[in-house]
Amino acid sequence: MSNVHASTHPLVAHKLTRLRDKNTEPKKFRELVREIAGLMAYEATADLATAPLSIETPLASVTGVELAEKIGVVPILRAGLGMVEGIWELMPQAEVWHIGLYRDEKTLKPVEYYNKLPIEPTVSVCLILDPMLATGGSATATVEVLKRWGVRKIKFVGIIGAPEGIAAMQKAHPDVPIHLAAIDDHLNERGYIVPGLGDAGDRQFGTG
Ligand code: PRP
Ligand code: URA
Repeated sequence: MSNVHASTHPLVAHKLTRLRDKNTEPKKFRELVREIAGLMAYEATADLATAPLSIETPLASVTGVELAEKIGVVPILRAGLGMVEGIWELMPQAEVWHIGLYRDEKTLKPVEYYNKLPIEPTVSVCLILDPMLATGGSATATVEVLKRWGVRKIKFVGIIGAPEGIAAMQKAHPDVPIHLAAIDDHLNERGYIVPGLGDAGDRQFGTG
């Protein structure tokens, strides 16, 4: 599981516990999703390329760095939307490209309903955002869309993953690193992550 990174940061663990709690209201839930997303993105972007940049401080010249990659943030609708702001706070220059997928409740297969990517890729790195990696159907389908678009460097940034979804991603896309706040125990018979947090979209948008 060398390409799978589960956070060990106490702040992430603290916020994730609040997020899982069934008594956490949508307003607080959205705040926690945003904050955890920022912390996860911080960990997931540790290997971004930089280029030297010379600047003047009030005292002297110094050579620092600037990010050398064009970053695309790709939230999977709906639940990935709540992760965008937390990442934009760190990387305001990132482009956001939405992919609309929902999971068919019977087959658990992803159904694509929104994709407005232009013909040519406009970014060099994509961070796919989705709080939940359950069967892995939505994540693998999104990676396929981005690879067809022409992006070579893709990372999945989530919050909770199930072993089944991680295995599916690793089989289909072993080149895509997976960053999670936690790896849970299993999927139940309806494809929900256990212990998980329930339906991440419904809990954010108050539609449960
Ligand atoms: C949830 C979640 C993922 C998907 C994960 O979305 O946000 O996109 O399920 O499941 P998978 O790994 O088995 O594909 P959902 O289909 O409920 O749509 P929503 O975000 O619009 O609620
Ligand atoms: N989607 C969710 O929102 N939660 C799960 O546990 C599985 C899929």
